[in-house]
Amino acid sequence: MRKEVVLITGANGEIGHGLITHLGEQGNFGVIALDVQPLDEALRPYVEKFIQGDILDTMLLGRLVAEYEIRAVYHLASILSTKAEYNPETAHRVNVEGTLNLLRLSVEQSQWQGRPVKFLYPSSIAAYGLPDLASKNSAGKIKEHNWLEPTTMYGCNKLYCEHLGRYYTRHYRQLAADQGPTAIDFRCIRFPGLISAMTVPTGGTSDYGPEMLHHAAQSLPYDCFVRPDTRLPFMVMPDAIKSLLMLEAAPKENLKQLTYNVTSFSPTALEFHDIVLKAFPGAVIGFKPHAARQGIVDTWPADVDDSAARRDWGWQPDYDQVRSFDEYLIPAIRERYAE
Ligand code: SER
Repeated sequence: MRKEVVLITGANGEIGHGLITHLGEQGNFGVIALDVQPLDEALRPYVEKFIQGDILDTMLLGRLVAEYEIRAVYHLASILSTKAEYNPETAHRVNVEGTLNLLRLSVEQSQWQGRPVKFLYPSSIAAYGLPDLASKNSAGKIKEHNWLEPTTMYGCNKLYCEHLGRYYTRHYRQLAADQGPTAIDFRCIRFPGLISAMTVPTGGTSDYGPEMLHHAAQSLPYDCFVRPDTRLPFMVMPDAIKSLLMLEAAPKENLKQLTYNVTSFSPTALEFHDIVLKAFPGAVIGFKPHAARQGIVDTWPADVDDSAARRDWGWQPDYDQVRSFDEYLIPAIRERYAE
């Protein structure tokens, strides 16, 4: 008998840290963790096995299929929006071909098991693309099917992989004579900017939020790379993990769509700055907008409509803006850097 496990790619990333800690503490399933980087030592006790490797390595993925019964895949590995612009074709390979490899692995697993493997996929506000600031400022809360013209390679990759997930769930092998049950069970969340007290993101464009906070807590000066009036939706990591687990657990018949927005609060960069400065009064934070990164953020929504997630699977964040900073980010970051 192969062992029943959950597979997490991008295990060493920001969401991976939060998710592995949570699943490991629950202990219901063995966690198989995959990442190109070595796994953070702190996560080792929570995983049954860590594999250092690339999602483009199909031999490696093939060996995983042979060895384990994978019940669910959390495919978190990705090259984020800013980094992807420096090498768009490499980003495409990792973000799209890598996802395709994991989708194929899941299809194969579903066929072996005779039941659809759940495929949890974090997409992003980067899947949206508003043409100009006037549209961004007047669009209000954006629904899942509007403004889908991303301007970044990362955003294009995320949006296309959402389509791939839909294809593998509803249309895979549509011409085959032996039409079996659903191939996989793809479930996707479009995340806003995420902020964790434990980790700092690498290569994203919403990074000015978490970077401001983590720099201030370490008494390091920071220049924010967007204008003070820039507004983006954000959410703290415990809520991001909660949303993934809630969507995973939701009864399939309740899910009216495959992709859901979630969000919590939408501060301007200036409001973010003011909150951080209040918590760390000595902090030195300036604004030095980087034209190209500003351009990207200007195409992302100021707010998203997450009413479908609320309706279909009872989504609601635990942390609004005040709670996020007062009860999670500031105390946890203080403690982290005091160590
Ligand atoms: N936080 C991501 C980025 O900035 C968006 O999903 O790239």
